Amino acid sequence: MVAYSELSKEELLKLKNELEEQFSEVKAKGLNLDMSRGKPSAAQLDLAMGMMDVLNSKSDLKCQEGVDCRNYGVLDGIQEAKQLLADMMEVPKDNIVIFGNSSLNVMYDTIARSMTHGVMGSTPWCKLDKVKFLCPVPGYDRHFAITEHFGIEMINIPMTESGPDMDLVEKLVSEDEAIKGIWCVPKYSNPQGITYSDETVHRFAKLKPAAKDFRIYWDNAYGIHHLYEDKQDYLIEILMECKKEGNPDMVYKFCSTSKVSFPGSGVSAIAASDANLVAIRKQMTIQTIGHDKLNQLRHARFYKDIHGMVKHMKLHADILRPKFEAVLEVLEEELGGLGIGSWLAPRGGYFISFDAMEGCAKAIVAKAKEAGLVMTPAGATFPYGKDPKDSNIRIAPSYPTPEELKIASEIFVLSVKLVSIDKLLEEKK
Ligand SMILES: Cc1ncc(COP(=O)(O)O)c(C=O)c1O
Repeated sequence: MVAYSELSKEELLKLKNELEEQFSEVKAKGLNLDMSRGKPSAAQLDLAMGMMDVLNSKSDLKCQEGVDCRNYGVLDGIQEAKQLLADMMEVPKDNIVIFGNSSLNVMYDTIARSMTHGVMGSTPWCKLDKVKFLCPVPGYDRHFAITEHFGIEMINIPMTESGPDMDLVEKLVSEDEAIKGIWCVPKYSNPQGITYSDETVHRFAKLKPAAKDFRIYWDNAYGIHHLYEDKQDYLIEILMECKKEGNPDMVYKFCSTSKVSFPGSGVSAIAASDANLVAIRKQMTIQTIGHDKLNQLRHARFYKDIHGMVKHMKLHADILRPKFEAVLEVLEEELGGLGIGSWLAPRGGYFISFDAMEGCAKAIVAKAKEAGLVMTPAGATFPYGKDPKDSNIRIAPSYPTPEELKIASEIFVLSVKLVSIDKLLEEKK
């Protein structure tokens, strides 16, 4: 493979003609493909259909503590659901509170509470002149949407292969009292599939924030979402690490069963120190009499324990792995060595992140659309939808079939090649 940058203007023009012909051929097929949606396929949802049968009109609907799950009661989650999600989050059962069907909702509420009522007695953020958040990039668009919604200023922190740039995080957090939080997806991150290294987690736990109400928003959405049995990433458990470092209150952990059971109909939870949970429960008693205990019971009885859940995740992996591999194979075969894009092969999670040559991402997504392939909008992985290098594109392989993914990936690489050639020709003008 010769890197495109090594090619002469004439060679590039010749190549462009050939590729344009290929592009016209696929375009003529009138395809309708989608690699934008990070959601499980129907086959994955089918895996949890047994959950629909664990409760019926004959079932004993009392939970372990003897409460009738059909009725009011039990504010912060039934014992068996707490145990299941605590094991999933690798924290003691007493350090978790069960919420409703969406962890994103819990994150939104956590920010909203901090705005209106402060954090464990601190000044409510809405009374401050300025509130800022650190945002590792590329990252999850819905995190950024929450902080943008509340008028919180977002600061980009570049991701490295071992997590966020910790030199920058340490510097900013220790200097600026207006910085109140950082969004983290620490395992199989969205979108790069990166897992924070031991050193990164240690450095997080040792942070010395200027703001007493600074919190790490540790959204471990993909904690048990491995693709392989033999190649799995390991993440140090941060709640214990923060406690060891004398910073027990500095982290909120979030998770849900959205991509374990049913997205939108799962169970979510927050894990935090005792002191944080006191503040959270205080608000919770005003907000609700309790979340859906029947759904908690359904989850606990279906999975039985964390081993049941881990077994279930292997079935998800069997469906997802060939899809990731189909995309990675095309990327490697078609773009390897050309110097017009880079990507990582994740060992888990839901995404592959692609970095095109600077200034090309928007044009690539538009080009792919011409041939009937919908990608996540370029820029979506950055705060305010603005990728300063216009380079990152998120690929979501979970929803289409492996066959569709192969064709979709071919359209994608063709689009990358054509847009990159135009960029190189522009530079040669
Ligand atoms: C990093 C991350 N956090 C949270 C969510 C949403 O989780 P939930 O369905 O629990 O709101 C997603 C979904 O894509 C995600 O990628």
